[in-house]
Amino acid sequence: MEKFVINGGKILSGKVKISGAKNSALKLIAASILADSKTTLKNVPKIEDVNIMIEVLRTLGARVNVDTENKSVEINPESIDSYEAPYELVRKMRASILVAGPLLSKFGKVKVAVPGGCNIGSRQIDLHLKGFEDMGVEYSIEHGYINCQVESNKTGVRLSGTMVNMDFPSRGATENIMMAACLARGQTVINNAAREPEIIDLACFLNSMGADIQGSGTDCIVINGVKSLKGTEYEVMPDSIEAGTFIVAAGLCGNKVEVENAKWKNLQVFYSKLKEIGVNISIIDENNIRVDEPQSTYNPTNISTLPYPGFPTDLQPIITVLLSTIPGVSIVTENVFENRFMYVDELNRMGANIKIDGHHAVIKGVEKLSGAPVRSFDLRAGAAIVLAGLVAEGSTEVSDIYHIKRGYEDFEEKLKSLGADIKKVS
Ligand code: EPZ
Repeated sequence: MEKFVINGGKILSGKVKISGAKNSALKLIAASILADSKTTLKNVPKIEDVNIMIEVLRTLGARVNVDTENKSVEINPESIDSYEAPYELVRKMRASILVAGPLLSKFGKVKVAVPGGCNIGSRQIDLHLKGFEDMGVEYSIEHGYINCQVESNKTGVRLSGTMVNMDFPSRGATENIMMAACLARGQTVINNAAREPEIIDLACFLNSMGADIQGSGTDCIVINGVKSLKGTEYEVMPDSIEAGTFIVAAGLCGNKVEVENAKWKNLQVFYSKLKEIGVNISIIDENNIRVDEPQSTYNPTNISTLPYPGFPTDLQPIITVLLSTIPGVSIVTENVFENRFMYVDELNRMGANIKIDGHHAVIKGVEKLSGAPVRSFDLRAGAAIVLAGLVAEGSTEVSDIYHIKRGYEDFEEKLKSLGADIKKVS
């Protein structure tokens, strides 16, 4: 039972380097199943979710070597002999569902536990299954597992390329269908596809293995199936959400903070919202951002989360902490997940004044927050509560920090290196 104990009021300053992206690394590890030989991934973040995805691949029979010091992971899929992603792992991390596309494409079958919901929402997978069905897959759901299979034709190819029209630009469904289509017969077109930078990273990774994917980053992705894919060497892109988290921390209580490896081009709407608030943020170059102390008081602002290129839902709890300290009324609207305001009660325990009205949070900014014992309900909510502790008067104790470790590499060490008074206690 580890906790963070934070004494607020310290001014952050100095440099912080952003790690590899969780929401790309997980997919690249799953996609390495598609190759006929070994893949080496670099800049892989040292986080719990990566450990779980590696465990999923080892459960399938893949050989995986992790070089923690050099943040690289070697994956050899040649020894895969199982097509089942077990409940014990899938319940820990929903993204395990992303082995389905690669296993179906390469072996024509997969048995994966139904992921189920989580604290932020019901997290359906109907769009994944519809895409697979469009490509010729038959599936059934029994005893908490999804059983998918597709017969191979005379040439051993299984899935059939086709037009997939997505009801909603789901990231997971876009990624799973894109991976499945790589070894399919003919062309697959994904319409209304998700456009996040991580989708582009996955497509570039697959193309470096010999796939033929065009249009990633747009709402129409075209995949021409190929006979086989080979192992590759690839560097995971930087984590935009981690970058956004540290930029807001600097906006809350920083001066002269440089956020390195923060590709701001991936965060343009977020960036312009910070400007609207009045955060003194400047671009050093393509990969580096600087935050200085504000030149004037901050402005209340309204935020609506949307799929990319809209405002990222993963930064919604983070920006809400900042808005909760700005006098005036701000409204945050969550349009991607149906239950992503659970952390608000914890913020209100710290003296914030936020009312939830359906999928809107109506924030009346307060002069100051006060330290309190609080819980983290999920990864981003946990990080948000830690940020609140940095500006709160007195001491804040954050429990259930295992959520934070799932997606932030060395979170407290990085904050400490910027001058925060934070420590982990058991
Ligand atoms: C990815 O989840 C990210 N996770 C999430 O980050 C992120 O919040 C989310 O995309 C949205 O940006 C990973 O990449 C591992 P979706 P994913 O499919 O792929 C509904 C974090 O904090 N939907 O785009 O699951 C779904 O219920 C995490 O790092 C269906 O209805 O997101 C949700 O409301 C949290 N049917 C919405 O779409 C489907 O088949 C967005 O889901 C699929 C999704």
